[in-house]
Formats: sequence, structure tokens, C-alpha cells
Amino acid sequence: MSSSRDRPPLLWRLVHHAGGRVDAAYQVFDVVRSEVLAASVPPRHWPSFVRSAYDANQLMRSDAHNASLYAWEQHAIDGFFPAAPATVLVGGAGAGREVRGLLERGYRVSAFDPAGALVDHGRAELHSDALLAFAVGGYEELISDELELRRHAPYDAVVLGWGSFSHVGDPAIRAALPRALRALCPSGPVLISWIAQKPVGPKREALRRVLRASGLRHHDGATSYRPHQGFVHSPSEAALRALAASGGYEVAHFDASVPYSVWIPASD
Ligand SMILES: C[S@@+](CC[C@H](N)C(=O)[O-])C[C@H]1O[C@@H](n2cnc3c(N)ncnc32)[C@H](O)[C@@H]1O
Repeated sequence: MSSSRDRPPLLWRLVHHAGGRVDAAYQVFDVVRSEVLAASVPPRHWPSFVRSAYDANQLMRSDAHNASLYAWEQHAIDGFFPAAPATVLVGGAGAGREVRGLLERGYRVSAFDPAGALVDHGRAELHSDALLAFAVGGYEELISDELELRRHAPYDAVVLGWGSFSHVGDPAIRAALPRALRALCPSGPVLISWIAQKPVGPKREALRRVLRASGLRHHDGATSYRPHQGFVHSPSEAALRALAASGGYEVAHFDASVPYSVWIPASD
């Protein structure tokens, strides 16, 4: 049984209670920062925020993070990818987590990511003749053919690396991506994953209305800002299905819990 004699010292209790207040204040700050930045920064400026966030992201460089494919990725590869040694294009590859997993399974891989520090790390860690390229650039540069990855085409499968599609802010780039992938990989599957949106409560909705009324109108209702990732767009299932169809794909698998999807070329 506890008694007043068991009460922890005052200093511990003060730190405990004051810490709770600081945490609560930080959570409010985090939400307000996310909403203000999402409303005020045009998507064309997203890449520099996202790049610098990931260049500084230590987790993406850690051995533990880069050790293996996730279970859902293994499931998608086993279920939909052609057998190794097929050639796979990996975008948003970070420091090479998926690249390593694919190389270990005997695939040939071309990869790219806009965060130069992550690519440098990946190049230093991954030594394989089956790694055809590891370029610095994003989906924007892939579409404008600046990455010179066409020389390894046609690819047999595509991986849009974990969550990376969510960092594409420009709707025109999102719209152009499926066709660009189809041109590089005419008959193979696309594994795409994105970052889910946290539920938006009434306080956040009210803040959005205030920001809109004060002229900050870039918020598309599906964007958030996270300090370790930069800007994040969370597409709806309907938007993703429409996007797949626009590139001539059908959705072979959709899992809202990760979330990820596998697209395959639509049969004519
Ligand atoms: C959550 S991390 C995942 C990295 C890696 N796929 C992994 O699983 O370790 C998302 C990655 O998307 C990349 N990214 C951000 N914007 C991008 C863009 N516009 N095009 C392609 N990749 C992008 C980031 O640099 C980052 O490496």
C-alpha cells in the first residue's frame, strides 16, 4: 500500500508535470507550423525543404533501417514482380534499403533519390555489379529525363520507394509520373507507397479556415509538414486509382493499412 511517505521528491514531480506542459505546447506548435507552412509554401518550393530534411535524417542512414525489405514489400515482390535477374527501377531510394533487398534477391537495379547525402551513403555501402546506377534526383528529374536512367530501360518492374510519392507536391508532376514510368517499364508492375494523413479534427479545420481567409491558400487539404521529412501529400484512394488509370495501369492490389498499392499494365 502506498502512503504519503512514498511520495516521490518534489523535483521529480515538478519535472514530470512541467514536462507534460512542454509536450502539450510542442504538439500545438507542431500542428500550427504544419498548417501555416502547408498553406503558405507553394509546391514548387517543396523539393528544397524535403531534400534538406532527408539529408539530415539520421534514421535513413542507419544500418538497422537499411537492413531489409518490409514484409509488405516482400509480399508485393513475391506476388507481382518478374523473377530475378530482372531489372528494377527504384525511385525515392533513400540510402538504398529497397536497393539492398532487391540486389540480395538477385535483381539488377537502377536507383535515384534527390537527397544527395543519402545517395552518397548508399553508394558507399552498396558494392555490386548489379547496381547499374544510383543517381541524385527526384521524380521531377526522372520525368524531364535528366537522370540518364533511360539507358538501362526497358525496366521489368518499378518501385517508388517507401513513402516517396507523398513528397511530390506539384500536381502536374504527380499526373505525369505514371506515363513516364510506363514509358520506362512498358510491361512491368509498379509498387507505390505513400504516407497516410493523420485525421483532421475541428480545431485544425478552424485553423485552416483562418489561414484561407487571411490569403494563405496553398493548402490542398491533404498536406502536412514534418520536420524530419518536409512536406507530405497524402492522396486519397480515389486519386490514386485515377492516377493509375491515367497511366494505363490497373490496380492489382491496394492496402490502405501501410498504405501501398501495386499497379500492373492494364489489359487492352
Ligand atoms: C521515407 S523515405 C524512404 C527512403 C527509402 N525508400 C527507404 O525506405 O529507406 C522517402 C524518400 O523519398 C525521397 N524523396 C523526396 N522527394 C522526392 C521526389 N520528389 N522524388 C523522389 N524521391 C523523393 C526522400 O529523399 C526520401 O529518401
